[in-house]
Amino acid sequence: MATDGPANVVFGAAGATGLEVVKRLLEKESLPTRAVCRDPAKLAGVLEPSPKLQVVKGDVTDPASLKEALKGARGVVFAASGRGYWSASEVDFQGVANVAAAAKEAGAGRVVLVSSMLVTKKNWLNPVRLLLNNIRWGLMDNKLKGEDALRASGVDYTIVRPGGLGRQPGGQATLVTGQGDCMSAGGQIQRADVAAVVVEALGNPGASRVTLELVSRPGAPEGGFDAQLKGMWAGLKPDATA
Ligand SMILES: NC(=O)c1ccc[n+]([C@@H]2O[C@H](COP(=O)([O-])OP(=O)(O)OC[C@H]3O[C@@H](n4cnc5c(N)ncnc54)[C@H](OP(=O)(O)O)[C@@H]3O)[C@@H](O)[C@H]2O)c1
Repeated sequence: MATDGPANVVFGAAGATGLEVVKRLLEKESLPTRAVCRDPAKLAGVLEPSPKLQVVKGDVTDPASLKEALKGARGVVFAASGRGYWSASEVDFQGVANVAAAAKEAGAGRVVLVSSMLVTKKNWLNPVRLLLNNIRWGLMDNKLKGEDALRASGVDYTIVRPGGLGRQPGGQATLVTGQGDCMSAGGQIQRADVAAVVVEALGNPGASRVTLELVSRPGAPEGGFDAQLKGMWAGLKPDATA
């Protein structure tokens, strides 16, 4: 299949959340889904074969590979995160800046970034933030810089800041959102539910320039999970423009 036509493009597609996003896109969207990862072999046999699936090699630290990966991009999802101890600046900050710039250049409609709760400086001394900032050097500081680079890039965006991520099936919980990074640490959400929000954010007009925190509580919401996905944006404000 040609990999330069219109497609939704996912970075970090072989990661735990990225893979859920790819699955959700394949299930819900008619447009091809382009799964981008550093080693496409990682996805061999992991996903059901689909005529809508494109698997391509790309590295968010390599702008030339991004230009290729983003040809014809409509929606773009950034679910990558650095692996090594010193990787956060290169991947969680500069990688986001690279993808945002390349997405703008490619004429993409919106970039949805998977960031994290507690990312802002107001939580500077929160013990969870301090811990995460030391699990990988400067992880949270660099995630915040990545968010800021995306906001400044000129491409439309949504920034999703989840709480602790789980691997259980999705669609069975009530989503709880916040803004301003005021949620207390400890909230959790399944990656499949984050993926559902991310995919909805790609196309929902109410998700434009929105930054939100996201956790969940047990039990399906009144009206069902999918209705909540559509309606949740009405209560959220876009970021103030500088
Ligand atoms: N874990 C939590 O509880 C939690 C809570 C809140 C927020 N978050 C955030 O949520 C996001 C998703 O987390 P996750 O645990 O689902 O992710 P993950 O499984 O760690 O996946 C991250 C992916 O990023 C890819 N990656 C690393 N460097 C890259 C590069 N230079 N170019 C392209 N791809 C690259 C990795 O690819 P390779 O396979 O090639 O290494 C990996 O597949 C992360 O930003 C994380 O910080 C996590």
